[in-house]
Amino acid sequence: MQTGSKLKILYVSAEVSPFAKTGGLADVAGSLPQTLAAMGNDVRVVMPRYKTIKSGMSYVADFPVVMGDRRETCIVRETETNYKADGKTMKMPVYFIDSYHYYDREGIYCYMDDADRFVFFCKAVLEMLPRINFQPDVIHCNDWHTGPICLLLKEKYKRYPFYSNMSAVFTIHNLEYQGHFSKDTLRVLNMGEDVFTPEKAEFYGGFNFMKAGLVYTDIINAVSETYAEEVKTERYGEKMEGLLNKRAKDLYGIVNGISYEEFNPAEDPKIYKNYSLENYEDKKQNKYALQKEVGLPKSDKPLIGIVHRLTAQKGLDLILDVMDEIMESDVQFVLLGLGDPYYENKFKEYAEKYPDKMKVIIEFNVTLAQRIYSGSDVFLMPSRFEPCGLGQLISLRYGTIPIVRSTGGLADTVLDFNADEKQGNGFTFTDYTSEAFLNALKRAIKVYNQKPEAWDMLIQRALESDFSWKTSAEKYLKLYKLAVEKQEAKEKLA
Ligand code: GLC
Repeated sequence: MQTGSKLKILYVSAEVSPFAKTGGLADVAGSLPQTLAAMGNDVRVVMPRYKTIKSGMSYVADFPVVMGDRRETCIVRETETNYKADGKTMKMPVYFIDSYHYYDREGIYCYMDDADRFVFFCKAVLEMLPRINFQPDVIHCNDWHTGPICLLLKEKYKRYPFYSNMSAVFTIHNLEYQGHFSKDTLRVLNMGEDVFTPEKAEFYGGFNFMKAGLVYTDIINAVSETYAEEVKTERYGEKMEGLLNKRAKDLYGIVNGISYEEFNPAEDPKIYKNYSLENYEDKKQNKYALQKEVGLPKSDKPLIGIVHRLTAQKGLDLILDVMDEIMESDVQFVLLGLGDPYYENKFKEYAEKYPDKMKVIIEFNVTLAQRIYSGSDVFLMPSRFEPCGLGQLISLRYGTIPIVRSTGGLADTVLDFNADEKQGNGFTFTDYTSEAFLNALKRAIKVYNQKPEAWDMLIQRALESDFSWKTSAEKYLKLYKLAVEKQEAKEKLA
């Protein structure tokens, strides 16, 4: 590869929107590659073909994948997604790794044989490349499901000329999920004890997929600058901080963007009334319509919205601790989400206690999510940790003011109003306590009620802010080039 030239990039992810999604990883995998392609690079995406993915695919190849002492058939299928470049609609290939044995099931994760399922995926991705005649400069791996690709590339495939110039970038979207399995994983990997050492993929007696990625990749990156710093500490490092400190020179942080086409209040067909900076008063029509849809009385009181996976990560405990205090003030509250039954039930109990003010919808509902983003006045994200966070970016795009704990990507994207009234785009707090959270929420409500012009300015700044992929995609290209250079340097040394 020559510097300055366009890159060939294989983007690997266990979930890619719109094909399969459980969280933010899918949104990133469904929008960053398109932006990179629009910048002129040859980008291809690959993911497993889960049973739920039915949309028109064509057959590309089939071959056996060795899993221990068995052979499992892999079928590669292909479809295309659209992206816009220079006003034209272009197509980018998306490959699916299909296996009746591993993926013909209702869900995406949480099966007893997940270790085998994702080892199969990693092996199949590498084996697919000569069959589709694609020699990427960079294989971009994401989260634990793809970690073994880095290990296999460096320990095995690099020896073959077809693979010898490929470099790897590994992105941490969430260090909490590491894919920690038993030593037995070595068997399906067809790798020996030599990779099962503390310097390699062994982790507290087990085989750790995330570690296999972090150790072997050329470049590591986390989904925000602050998170890239945080993961080096004991508090956020999930026991990987030692390794990440060791690899600090190769660890970068690039904040995620969102698709400004998918999330666009001026054109979004899912919301009740479109609006933009020019006519943002119409945002209010969305508020009234949302109230009607969820069964709240029409009102101009502050409407607090939440759309989340209901997990401890999202700081829901801070909200629950002061739920009565919030609901006894003059506000309305709407929550949409699915997840841990503990949180589902707790929020439902409060909704029963405050039926005229609070609505809780336990669902995964993309349309209603957009209506909450556009119809609410404030959006809560008091996360315990947040690698990047997309909710605050979407809410800003819709002129809905985020109230966040300053951690990870939230710290990099939301600036406190009080700290800088002219530039602030939300309300932030630092200590992970319900007092600190409540204080931030009260400050927001006070500005909303008492300083309407200041609130209008907040909305305008939110609508003006730019969290599209462009800037971050350029940073990714730089990282890819760095990975290629590192790989080439290693080649020379070898
Ligand atoms: C994970 C993280 C979230 C991040 C997303 C995409 O879901 O929890 O903070 O925005 O990945 O990178």
